[in-house]
Amino acid sequence: MVELGGNGLPQISKGLEGVYVTSSSISKVNGQEGKLYYRGFSIESLSENSNFEEVVYLLINGSLPSKPQLDEITAQLSDNRDLPDGIIKIIKELSGKGHPMDILRTAVSALSSYDKEVSDTSPAANMNKSLRIISKMSSIVAATGRFVSGKEYIAPDKSLDYVENFLYMLNGERPSAEQADIMRNMFILHAEHSTNASTFGTLVAGSTLADIYSAITAGISVLKGPLHGGADEAALRMMREIGDPENTESYIESALEGKKKIMGFGHRVYKAYDPRAKIIKKYLVKYQNGQFDELRKLASIALRAEKLMIDKLGASRGIWPNVDFFAGPVYLAAGIPPELFTPIFATSRSAGWCAHMLDYWKDNKLFRPLEWYTGSIDLEYIPIEKRQ
Ligand SMILES: CC(C)(COP(=O)(O)OP(=O)(O)OC[C@H]1O[C@@H](n2cnc3c(N)ncnc32)[C@H](O)[C@@H]1OP(=O)(O)O)[C@@H](O)C(=O)NCCC(=O)NCCS
Repeated sequence: MVELGGNGLPQISKGLEGVYVTSSSISKVNGQEGKLYYRGFSIESLSENSNFEEVVYLLINGSLPSKPQLDEITAQLSDNRDLPDGIIKIIKELSGKGHPMDILRTAVSALSSYDKEVSDTSPAANMNKSLRIISKMSSIVAATGRFVSGKEYIAPDKSLDYVENFLYMLNGERPSAEQADIMRNMFILHAEHSTNASTFGTLVAGSTLADIYSAITAGISVLKGPLHGGADEAALRMMREIGDPENTESYIESALEGKKKIMGFGHRVYKAYDPRAKIIKKYLVKYQNGQFDELRKLASIALRAEKLMIDKLGASRGIWPNVDFFAGPVYLAAGIPPELFTPIFATSRSAGWCAHMLDYWKDNKLFRPLEWYTGSIDLEYIPIEKRQ
């Protein structure tokens, strides 16, 4: 029974702001102090010491793996990288037509038809399917990158780790140590962020006991929007529009005067500097004085914009850089084209989505919120020929 307030209306929390919908021990976002923990480990320590395979294990299983456990999950993530021919055809057909995020959503959805365990809802089958999805999403994104730039599909190389293989399948050559390090970090930093919009979307779909492919497809759909995962690409677009570092302040000032949001700033939970943005910024600072003209310019624009935004809206409004602001130029430095930024975010986040889904199914409850009806009732039905 819902309690109504003194005015006879229920308390409505738009966007579910401030509402707890579930509990979990997967990650903790401390928005006031700008801290993030995966299963109790700070994001800084994982970024410094870990790799993506280990983070997948940690998120899904709840603790760091032993050496044999790490070897096992590494082998599972590597053995599952192949894509069925039908999926490669779908990706090729759609490349150049839809955005890579749309292609990823469609390909992950289609993958369910190739998985013999799709309807097996046992925890073991759900775990197998999760690892297949996490593994194959990186191949889908790499294949999309190949086809979009008019190149042929490259089959996975099982001798490489998850991140190196992704870069190899995308670029056709083994990555440099710096590229691999950037992407190792990007995959770790984006892997999980508690029950945000896309994780919630995943859980809502899964709570109906739809299969995990449906749940992850829902997560991808929710992540696409520029208010969520799409902000990294949008932030880079803005930096390119600014063009010359000297234009940064006037551009931002006039955007704010026009009540426009600056992509890559602000967060529903963080009212302090996003700790992931701090880690990504460390790479960007190096490019300020680097050799590549575009990167040098973008780094300078990003750092000037960051300063101005913090001066204007940081402490006063709690609007700080988020994970997406510095990501664009850093991805470019690793050889990633802008249209793949959000699909890579989704690929990495599939680890968190799967961890939450497997956890939620242990004690599943269908999501069914209420809506306060504000329309009429018992209207008289008027035949169409008599309507005004
Ligand atoms: C992420 C986001 C949706 C969270 O916001 P929210 O909790 O829903 O809060 P709102 O969008 O209602 O914003 C609250 C106020 O802050 C302002 N604000 C929020 N983000 C802003 C930004 N990036 N630039 C300028 N102003 C911003 C809003 O204009 C609003 O101002 P008002 O009260 O004067 O109307 C929002 O900060 C945003 O749109 N950021 C840009 C997109 C982005 O980077 N998304 C990635 C998040 S990881």
